[in-house]
Amino acid sequence: MIGVITGTGSWLPEQIVDNDDLARIMDTNDEWIRERTGIVKRRIIKEESTVSMATGAALRALEDAGVAAEELDMLLVSTVSSDVLLPSTACEVQKNIGATNAVCFDINAACTGFLFALNTAQAYFHAGLVKKVLLIGAESLSTLVDWSDRGTAILFGDGAGAAVLEAAEGELLPMVMHSDGARGEALTCKSPFAVRKSPLTVANMMKAVEKEDYVGMNGQEVFRFAVKRVPECVEELLDKCGKTTEDVDYFILHQANRRIVESIAKRLKTDISKFPMNLMEYGNTSSASIPILLDGLNRKGTLKRGMKLVIAGFGAGLSWGAAYMEW
Ligand code: ACO
Repeated sequence: MIGVITGTGSWLPEQIVDNDDLARIMDTNDEWIRERTGIVKRRIIKEESTVSMATGAALRALEDAGVAAEELDMLLVSTVSSDVLLPSTACEVQKNIGATNAVCFDINAACTGFLFALNTAQAYFHAGLVKKVLLIGAESLSTLVDWSDRGTAILFGDGAGAAVLEAAEGELLPMVMHSDGARGEALTCKSPFAVRKSPLTVANMMKAVEKEDYVGMNGQEVFRFAVKRVPECVEELLDKCGKTTEDVDYFILHQANRRIVESIAKRLKTDISKFPMNLMEYGNTSSASIPILLDGLNRKGTLKRGMKLVIAGFGAGLSWGAAYMEW
């Protein structure tokens, strides 16, 4: 058996913070951010939380799939920015939506988290252990960002995306997953207690933080890592499938930044039109970026049944991976 996506949903905070808003509170400007990242604006939570966004995305995905919450066997949430350490975000969502029969747990693999959750679910489908699974990527990265660090603060946004998978006949789909803890210092957030409690607005973003506690990044190292490892692992995946890039309709990549996506497309010698992006609107929403992108494409009708997709994530850990699927 395999899991097939039968419904998607997403939930974005109402507050929009554009590059000009950031230029008013830090030494940056719209041109620099657009040119280096492609990002124009991002959503930042005010009243929302990781759990509330995850719940909203989950309900929309269930409605899209026509699946009742009680039918779910498993509910996985990928997040690095849960509102509290315990209980898990997955258990909180279970409570909110009434998924009483689901086993629920969180996965922390940073920006690769949704991809690892997807591959984990596929292994459960293959083992015949589950029939209906809800996957969610949900992040409030604004609570973990040092807003006085212009090198990182401009990159991130908040949001949640979800997908319902249902069992169908089929062989285990090829997947690739890698981790390299020895290079973990490239992207860190050292305190689990760094999460801000107060609603974040442009006016209060700059309040003092203990820098060590918040997201720290060697941007160029992360860039080099992404543009090398992602094409490698996509090629590894396509080899396993006996396919080429020509056979793929869309490459659904983690939305870190436009230059990374463009470099990956170039290295794969594939037209950029096969690499849809939403980072202009939402920034880098870490593990939420892939399901938010999938939901946008699904609701626009861009994705048609039978289309071949490669989904690829990469991020802190370091971690990276890819999955092949038919829509
Ligand atoms: N506005 C204006 N100037 C800035 C800003 C800013 N926001 N940030 C840095 N600068 C300045 C620097 O201070 C530096 O100035 P200097 O030359 O006077 O010293 C100059 O711009 C160049 O800085 P670099 O850090 O070399 O800029 P770079 O071209 O590497 O771009 C960036 C930085 C966008 C972070 C890039 O390294 C990158 O995209 N890295 C990938 C990181 C990433 O996407 N991480 C996401 C999280 S991980 C993930 O999702 C996989």
